[in-house]
Amino acid sequence: MRMTGLRLRDFRGYHQVMLSPPEGVTVLVGENGAGKTNLLEAVHLCCVGRSHRTANDKEMIRKGQDTAAVQLTVERRDGVHEVGVRLFENARRRKIVFVNGKTAPRMGELMGHATCVIFSPEDLALVKEGPQARRRFLDMLLSQHQKAYFYALQTYMSALKQRNALLKQGDFRQLPTWDEQLAIAAAPVVRLRREACQRLEQRTQVHYLYIGGREDERFSMRYAGALADSADPAEDMLRGLIACRDEDQRRLTTCFGPHRDEIELTLSGEPIRAFGSQGQMRTAALSMKLAAFDLLEAAQGEPPLLLLDDVLSELDPDRRRRLIARIGRAQALLTCTDQADFIGARPACVLRVANGEITQM
Ligand SMILES: Nc1ncnc2c1ncn2[C@@H]1O[C@H](COP(=O)(O)OP(=O)(O)OP(=O)(O)O)[C@@H](O)[C@H]1O
Ligand SMILES: [Mg+2]
Repeated sequence: MRMTGLRLRDFRGYHQVMLSPPEGVTVLVGENGAGKTNLLEAVHLCCVGRSHRTANDKEMIRKGQDTAAVQLTVERRDGVHEVGVRLFENARRRKIVFVNGKTAPRMGELMGHATCVIFSPEDLALVKEGPQARRRFLDMLLSQHQKAYFYALQTYMSALKQRNALLKQGDFRQLPTWDEQLAIAAAPVVRLRREACQRLEQRTQVHYLYIGGREDERFSMRYAGALADSADPAEDMLRGLIACRDEDQRRLTTCFGPHRDEIELTLSGEPIRAFGSQGQMRTAALSMKLAAFDLLEAAQGEPPLLLLDDVLSELDPDRRRRLIARIGRAQALLTCTDQADFIGARPACVLRVANGEITQM
């Protein structure tokens, strides 16, 4: 897909900006703090409905303003899609999403029109940190991939919240009712995660070998939740909840279910978190993102938008070349602080970012 227009109003440090990137790679150059990542974040917000780096939407509203708006237009094989998000400072106003000029009644309607994969230095967390970072990776990917996943997850999370509230109130009589609801809600989440992981696993291995360039290293990711191998996740979830009820009542929270899922990452059979070098972990994270890119491309019949935040400067020249070769077919926004960083990327357009303004170089 091709992004033909990006508009921001009172988003982060920007008052008003309008961009029309050409096909191919657009490079954004600017000093630290100039506002390069902010632009990628705006694209991400339009695709997924949230930032890739904060859960607090208000951070994205320009200081001193009541509201921020972003809008993204993409051209796809089946025509033009336009998506937008409006954020409010006022806690009583929820964010609004727009699809093709109309206010969408539900957040999920935003998903799947414009899709993106973002690569950033923080991706290392995907490999290095706890399971939450990996679940978020799956959730962002699958929500873009299928609206049904987004809704399934939403249903599950809201049932979980209610069950946890009951536990905290010490009201255990209603638990059986919520167990059933939670079990039913868990099933599609587990099924879709498992299916996606199987496909990601295969692609991830291929990318790791290619980017890493070492035949003897085998990177593997495996879906590993309590229900990962279950033939009947709803039934097994219910059983698990009943089995954990005493523990739940003691800890006042739900201990069993896909909200505790893990994706196990291993390098040649060993947990990569404990045994991998910095470079190996970085290559692993990159491979997972490339696999996400493949999954979206296969699902939509065209590549998603690529957002590359400061990634080239962290790779050695060979790895950089191999990465660019892998993603050359997509339209990309690429940020760097130094013009030397994008040698080899053959940009179609270079823009300078400074003082909330964007100018052609
Ligand atoms: N809500 C906001 N209102 C006004 N300015 C903001 C807001 N949020 C962030 N900023 C400004 O945006 C700038 C950071 O932008 P960004 O993270 O895009 O920088 P960058 O160009 O990616 O820098 P680096 O090269 O260090 O990654 C900071 O100067 C910060 O003050
Ligand atoms: Mg940045």
